[in-house]
Amino acid sequence: MRAVIQDRYGSPDVIELGELPEPVAAEGEVLIEVRAASLNGSDRENLAGSPFYARLGGLRRPRRPVPGSDVAGVVVAVGGTVTEFAPGDEVFGELAGYRGGLAEYVATPPRLLARKPPGLSFTDAAAIPQAGCIAFRATQGVKGGDAVLVNGAGGAGGALVIGLAKHLGAEVTAVDRADKAAYLRQVGADETIAFEDEDWADRRGRYDRVVDLVGHRSPYRVQRALRPGGSYLMVGGHARILLAVLVAGPTAGVRTRKRVRVLAVPQSRTDLEAVTALIVAGVVTPVIDRVYPLAEASAAFARLAAGDNRGKVVVEVSPSR
Ligand SMILES: NC(=O)c1ccc[n+]([C@@H]2O[C@H](COP(=O)([O-])OP(=O)(O)OC[C@H]3O[C@@H](n4cnc5c(N)ncnc54)[C@H](OP(=O)(O)O)[C@@H]3O)[C@@H](O)[C@H]2O)c1
Repeated sequence: MRAVIQDRYGSPDVIELGELPEPVAAEGEVLIEVRAASLNGSDRENLAGSPFYARLGGLRRPRRPVPGSDVAGVVVAVGGTVTEFAPGDEVFGELAGYRGGLAEYVATPPRLLARKPPGLSFTDAAAIPQAGCIAFRATQGVKGGDAVLVNGAGGAGGALVIGLAKHLGAEVTAVDRADKAAYLRQVGADETIAFEDEDWADRRGRYDRVVDLVGHRSPYRVQRALRPGGSYLMVGGHARILLAVLVAGPTAGVRTRKRVRVLAVPQSRTDLEAVTALIVAGVVTPVIDRVYPLAEASAAFARLAAGDNRGKVVVEVSPSR
């Protein structure tokens, strides 16, 4: 089968299209014919092998050479003991281990997969899983009138965080590069901050919720931007800061009833179904930046690595049999 192969960490040049043996559905797995796969910030990290958690799947080189965690496709075979899906079912979801999706076929346990709603294209469905589940968890508890700040809002996941926060009635401030401001307003931000011009953490006592997709400030610094009772959720960012928030977060704002913590987003079919229901109902819409054919996966990664994408980059895979 045709597959994108990444045999080492580095720049998008390490990405090549090659041939690999077609996987088989082992006991407890389904074999999916992939129709589309989308890229996230985590794919950019998994390409570079940085931060350190991007090397959990192989210290020196990726143990599983095929990148890509979010897929949509058709079940073509099921292994023994799988009863919930059958050949012909259209499914989508995040792959366990965050790899394997950029290929014509992938074998995976079905527990993370959901049935693709009939009205949703494979391309749109592939854009949902990781970004949708992050946005769903990151906006739990947001109330009408809350002031929400989304840091790193202009990449793969931010638009859905903004959209869900707006749906819940929040006033949303989105932070990213200055040249993404118009895009951020278009997807619903009430206010934008260019991180080159202003440090949002200097705004004392302003936010009920900060969702940080690119955390690089200490827990003591970020808590100052919160209102009493507010919460800072670190979703991604520097490994050193991740550890600092894990260790010091619980005490950083305790006197002022502020919560500073890492948001661990589980890979979850239930969350995927819940956020997809909101998308199908038209409450929020995933933003697709650009669609590439499988043969141009290296260009898709180059766009992601340069930070030129506004929303999701999707790679379409056409069936060859
Ligand atoms: N917590 C969990 O359980 C969990 C689960 C899955 C994924 N994640 C993590 O979620 C994170 C991000 O999600 P994503 O897919 O939306 O990432 P993304 O596509 O990389 O988007 C990040 C955005 O932040 C911008 N940015 C860079 N430096 C910034 C700064 N100093 N201030 C403000 N914005 C800045 C980037 O701009 P440029 O592109 O121009 O650099 C980009 O637009 C990843 O780190 C991933 O590992 C966490």
